[in-house]
Amino acid sequence: MTVPDDRWLAGDAYERYMGRWSRPLAGAFLEWLRPPAGAHWLEVGCGTGALTSAIARSSEPASVVACDPSDAFVEHARGRVLDPRVSFVTGGADALPSRDGGFDLVVSALVLNFVPNPHEALAALRQRLRPGGGVAACVWDYAAGMEFLRVFWDEAIALDTRAEALDEGRRFPLCSAPALRALFDAAGLTHVDTGAVEVETRFAGFDDYWEPFLRGTGPAPAFVASLDLPARHELRERLRRRLPAGADGSIPLRARAWSVRGVSA
Ligand SMILES: C[S@@+](CC[C@H](N)C(=O)[O-])C[C@H]1O[C@@H](n2cnc3c(N)ncnc32)[C@H](O)[C@@H]1O
Repeated sequence: MTVPDDRWLAGDAYERYMGRWSRPLAGAFLEWLRPPAGAHWLEVGCGTGALTSAIARSSEPASVVACDPSDAFVEHARGRVLDPRVSFVTGGADALPSRDGGFDLVVSALVLNFVPNPHEALAALRQRLRPGGGVAACVWDYAAGMEFLRVFWDEAIALDTRAEALDEGRRFPLCSAPALRALFDAAGLTHVDTGAVEVETRFAGFDDYWEPFLRGTGPAPAFVASLDLPARHELRERLRRRLPAGADGSIPLRARAWSVRGVSA
């Protein structure tokens, strides 16, 4: 099975599938980061604006410049984050906005594993910092702690070994605390620190879990779309058995991300 190119096109589909979990994660990531008030921020790979709005809401920024290479995502975010301290720009890690004197903080949530060369991307992020500024990032723990996707891939692989090539837990070795630390150390950042940031991903019921796999963009929906109807039905029933609902019908799961931060000398 062909590994997808992780195209980021449809803001609404992304929101329904993954973006809704980016929002609680953004808040938890900022709690871990404990940024100072009054900072000038650059956010790289802002997507539909989950971290952008959390910064505006809880971190008392002086300004936030948020960028993403996807026009569709930037438009989605621009239409929803209306804070006058926030501006959006289309551009990826290879074409970042700059600020006279540098940004105080450069952050990136759930992006570094998708860029073609994380070392180059981190060098570009660092280059936009003022001396002594901080850079921080987080990535989902696809291999173990991102439970709703872990369960999906475990069952998908049990059904059809072609799914192995799509499983983000195998595709993204950067998504571990030691790998992130090594990346930040190699960039020459100081005071490098890693952490685990966990949020609840509670699904209202099995349909709320399953439906985004039928219409979202991303590797798991692409795999579901590749199955014929009997195989799709079997996968759905396997997952239903793996995910028993609680007394109120909801399915409580957890999702962990690994976080990392460092300081530019
Ligand atoms: C999983 S989404 C995360 C979006 C958002 N930060 C969030 O927390 O929901 C990955 C994002 O990385 C962006 N991206 C992909 N390649 C990139 C690159 N080279 N530089 C910056 N962002 C990139 C995508 O457009 C997409 O918005």
